Amino acid sequence: ARALSGTRLAAQADPGVAVAFDIDGVLIRGNEALPHAAESLARLDAGGVPWICVTNGGGVTEDVKAREVSELIGYEIEPSQMVCCHTPFRAKVPDFGKKRVLILGCRDVVGVMRSYGFEDIVTVQDIAEDDPSRYPFIDWKHRPLQPSLEERPVEAVFVVHDPVHWAPDVQITLDCLVAAPGGPAGKQTIPFFHANPDLVFAGRHSAPRLASGAFLEVISHMFHKVVGSPLRAELVGKPTKATFDFARYSLARRRDHVLAARGQESAEEASAHESHAVYGGEDAEVPPFRSIYMVGDNPTSDIRGANSAGGPWQSVLVRTGIFSQGENDKNDPGRHVKDGIKDAVELVLQDAG
Ligand code: G3P
Ligand code: MG
Repeated sequence: ARALSGTRLAAQADPGVAVAFDIDGVLIRGNEALPHAAESLARLDAGGVPWICVTNGGGVTEDVKAREVSELIGYEIEPSQMVCCHTPFRAKVPDFGKKRVLILGCRDVVGVMRSYGFEDIVTVQDIAEDDPSRYPFIDWKHRPLQPSLEERPVEAVFVVHDPVHWAPDVQITLDCLVAAPGGPAGKQTIPFFHANPDLVFAGRHSAPRLASGAFLEVISHMFHKVVGSPLRAELVGKPTKATFDFARYSLARRRDHVLAARGQESAEEASAHESHAVYGGEDAEVPPFRSIYMVGDNPTSDIRGANSAGGPWQSVLVRTGIFSQGENDKNDPGRHVKDGIKDAVELVLQDAG
């Protein structure tokens, strides 16, 4: 019955409908697939409904993240269907790709930023080892930076994924943010970019865990305390507009492929569309979507982001993660509330069919 219904939808699905899935708390929880994840994605594919993942997770390239989640859920997610919290940092390469940047975060954040095109990356460890007196409570080995920070100062700070050594991370970040040629300036002299403002996320543990946004709280507070003015931070990741714009353009590219596969558009046309939508630039020609469903478990991230993005975005709050019971969230109510991915996809298919 499922295959038959897919065939009918593949011929008829409204190309104005698309879906963005959150990952933690929707497709997986910790290291395990949530029920019905694979079969729900398969139903959308059978129905010709374009979908992508938009996660505030990351710390690995989009290719690696797509592979990791595919293996967990047992269903293939293509790298082009993966938007991580740091994916919009690609747009910073024209401004900062050739400048020295400090990056923070666990896992392979250096590999991620290199893959985007950042060429001169330093880490907290690099700067601490350059002069171990910068953070005296750890025995760093002395390893001078080449070229030196005087010759080539840090020109932007990027928090790419969850930092895990907060004490030296805070100290070195503060140093870089207020450094100026000739000595500390006493005010913020370089931009600070932060991916993923989520305070908590739903992992393997039964209660929500602190996420990258917790570090943002700490660095903002410490900056204000030490420097005396508010930290100016530019955020990407859900719920920011930057990420929802990026997701919409990614879905438009995905739709081109789905339509090409349905024979409604040639593969050449599809790849022509793809080539001009690298990042949600103002001039990218993307026909409007009627409904883009953001299916997520985190009211302040997935739901707030979709509700404030407006336009075609419709929030679907599911009960399989941070939000787990109750009618709806009080502060950031979902436009729809469903028990899990299966019911959310049913809603989408009814709209698309
Ligand atoms: O904020 C931490 C991150 O793991 C959340 O991921 O997929 O729920 O946006 P996701
Ligand atoms: Mg989530």
